[in-house]
Amino acid sequence: MNETHPISIAIDGPSGAGKSTLARQLASALHFLYVDTGAIYRTIAYYAYANHLDPSDEAAVLAALPDIRIELCHDTEGLQRMILNGEDVTDAIRLPQISQYASVVSAYPGVRAFLLEMQRDFARKGSVIMDGRDIGTTVFPDAELKIFVTASPEIRARRRYDELQAKGEEGSYEEILENVKERDRIDTSRTVSPLRKADDAIELDNSHMTISEQKEWLATQFRKAAGAE
Ligand code: DC
Repeated sequence: MNETHPISIAIDGPSGAGKSTLARQLASALHFLYVDTGAIYRTIAYYAYANHLDPSDEAAVLAALPDIRIELCHDTEGLQRMILNGEDVTDAIRLPQISQYASVVSAYPGVRAFLLEMQRDFARKGSVIMDGRDIGTTVFPDAELKIFVTASPEIRARRRYDELQAKGEEGSYEEILENVKERDRIDTSRTVSPLRKADDAIELDNSHMTISEQKEWLATQFRKAAGAE
């Protein structure tokens, strides 16, 4: 890894595997830009939802793309905020309906093509850590470091369930598990850029790891890729 050039780190994996926590922490330690690409797909999904488009109507979603202007900025705590046609939709894109819409619209080749250059542009400005589903396979096939983060569906559903409980929100474990499995099915079976581990990605199964163990593991992988170990 030649650190005089911008560096790209790709972190992919299924939903709820904890990619963003890890990616954000490493980005902050390295002073790299962190980009959560799921939030970008969610912003398109939110547009469809707010404008009463049927997400399964591919032609209608594609026809709306020219009306969608997405900006991404970071607040004082470094958290990524999503701006859709001038409106901050950061919180709205996390609603459960938007997760479902995002799974559907992100399978459309036209939507993926629309976002591809936008994602690559971030790396033209400097070093970046990006998380998503196809960063190591499609967006940055030449990334200096590729990590594939995974955990069993049951563990991911349990984490999501505990998160909701902690916030005092409703949700049954069985329903969440079904939802996790359904999103995995859609993400891995689409024809364009399906979720899969890039051949040269290093896998992290964090099913039985604490956050600090994962952080340590990732820092070690970065040092190795940088030639420091
Ligand atoms: O990571 P997330 O749950 O916020 O992602 C939302 C949806 O977007 C999810 O269904 C997968 C999809 N996605 C994608 O297809 N490609 C990416 N690079 C990132 C997310």
